[in-house]
Amino acid sequence: MAEITLDLRALPKPEAYAQLDAHVRAVLDGVDDPVTAMATVSCLVHHAFGHLWTGFYRVVEPGRLLRVGPYQGTLGCLDITFGRGVCGAAAAERRTVVVEDVHAFPGHITCDGRSASEIVVPVFDASGALLAVFDVDSEHRGTFDDADREGLERLLAWFSERPLARAHDPALAV
Ligand code: SME
Repeated sequence: MAEITLDLRALPKPEAYAQLDAHVRAVLDGVDDPVTAMATVSCLVHHAFGHLWTGFYRVVEPGRLLRVGPYQGTLGCLDITFGRGVCGAAAAERRTVVVEDVHAFPGHITCDGRSASEIVVPVFDASGALLAVFDVDSEHRGTFDDADREGLERLLAWFSERPLARAHDPALAV
C-alpha cells in the first residue's frame, strides 16, 4: 500500500483524510528528514484530491520570511514575507486560514491565475516553533472547509510528533 499514490476524490472528506493520514504515516515510517516528508506530503495530498497547487513555504527567517519548499503544481512564488497574502497571514497568526474566494482576500498573491480558493495550514516542530506553512490551491471557489482544516492539521501534526533531522551537510559527513 505504501508505494502507491491514492486518488480519494470519490470519498467523503473525513474518510478520505483518514485514509490519507494512514498512507502518509506508512510511507514516512522511520523518516526524520523534513524535506523528504514535505515532498511526500505534497505529492500524496495533491494527487489524492487533484488540487491545482500543493506545497510548503518554509520559515527561513523566523517572524519575517517564508521561502518555497517542496511542492506540486505550476511555478510557485519564491519568497513571501510574514503578513503578506494568505500564506503570510497564516504564518504571522500561526493559524489555519481558509479562503473561499481568493479575489476577495486583501493582498492575495497570485502565482497561478487559475487559483480560486485556498487553505493554508501552519506546520510546527516538536518545540512549537513554526517550521513552514502548507498551502493548497484549487481552481474552484469554496473548495475548502472545516473537514479540510481538520484533516490537514492532523496530517501535518506528523512534523511535531518526532525530532526532525537537521539539513544534511556533506561537509560534516565522514
Ligand atoms: N496564494 C498564496 C501564494 C502562494 S501560491 O498560491 C503558490 C498566497 O496568497 O499566500
